[in-house]
Amino acid sequence: MTVRVYTIASGKGGTGKTTTTLNLGTALAMLGKKTIIIDADIGMANLGLMLGLEKSKVTLHEVLSGEAEIKDATYSGPSGLLVVPSGLTLKGFQKANPDMLKKVVSSLTDGMDYVLIDAPAGISKDGLIPLTIADRILLVVNPELSSMADALKIKTLAELLGKSVEGVILNRAELDKTEISRNKVSELLGVGVIEMIPEDVNVRRSAAFKAPVVVRAPKSPASIAFKRLAAKITGEKFTESKKEGFVDRLTRSIFGGK
Ligand SMILES: Nc1ncnc2c1ncn2[C@@H]1O[C@H](COP(=O)(O)OP(=O)(O)OP(=O)(O)O)[C@@H](O)[C@H]1O
Ligand SMILES: [Mg+2]
Repeated sequence: MTVRVYTIASGKGGTGKTTTTLNLGTALAMLGKKTIIIDADIGMANLGLMLGLEKSKVTLHEVLSGEAEIKDATYSGPSGLLVVPSGLTLKGFQKANPDMLKKVVSSLTDGMDYVLIDAPAGISKDGLIPLTIADRILLVVNPELSSMADALKIKTLAELLGKSVEGVILNRAELDKTEISRNKVSELLGVGVIEMIPEDVNVRRSAAFKAPVVVRAPKSPASIAFKRLAAKITGEKFTESKKEGFVDRLTRSIFGGK
């Protein structure tokens, strides 16, 4: 299979890009796909924090400043997921050159099935570059008008860059209003909603344990939705087994936090 580079973007901040990158990436890895997730939010890095990698000395900052190789900034996550966090310092941000991201991403695609890029919010240069290097763009939106308006801007920008948006992930959806909001979202944005991720308290709880919700609470509503999304992306049939298998249990005991 040729590698697919997905950029997870939103426009508005706080819609759930990092949560989606982490959980979709983990769910793809659980399906046996070689997956790497990259924190391209180089100014406000969060991905490493969600996995307890915040003390990592070598990060994407060092790679984008030419001081390190991508392999030195790649860490192991759950189920064989590979993770490239960004650093937390302002100094690191200042020295990182976002223009180098394209070269870095093309250098690591060897042997990978999926590369997921967690994009920053907004339309700064660091936000546009992840759009330009994506094979596919996923927009994470919340069911609010401000989130739609900003997502629409990203969609238009992506089109100006010659890219199209593959689909929308409607995060923090209220399930009782499902169909209405789902249809309205695709109508407003002109793109289909691939998956709806419900508001789920387990997302935050898992974050507190520095573990993806798909590992920490695999049967929770958000986890099931993230796993269904992963299956849609790989084109596999989604089956949610009722019993936790040995590998799932092992993964949870290692990466599921205390
Ligand atoms: N489905 C959900 N249910 C409950 N809480 C959620 C859900 N998705 C995300 N959150 C919470 O919302 C907050 C923002 O999520 P996240 O950091 O993933 O957004 P983001 O789009 O990456 O933000 P930023 O633009 O700042 O990078 C986090 O506290 C996260 O735990
Ligand atoms: Mg984020």
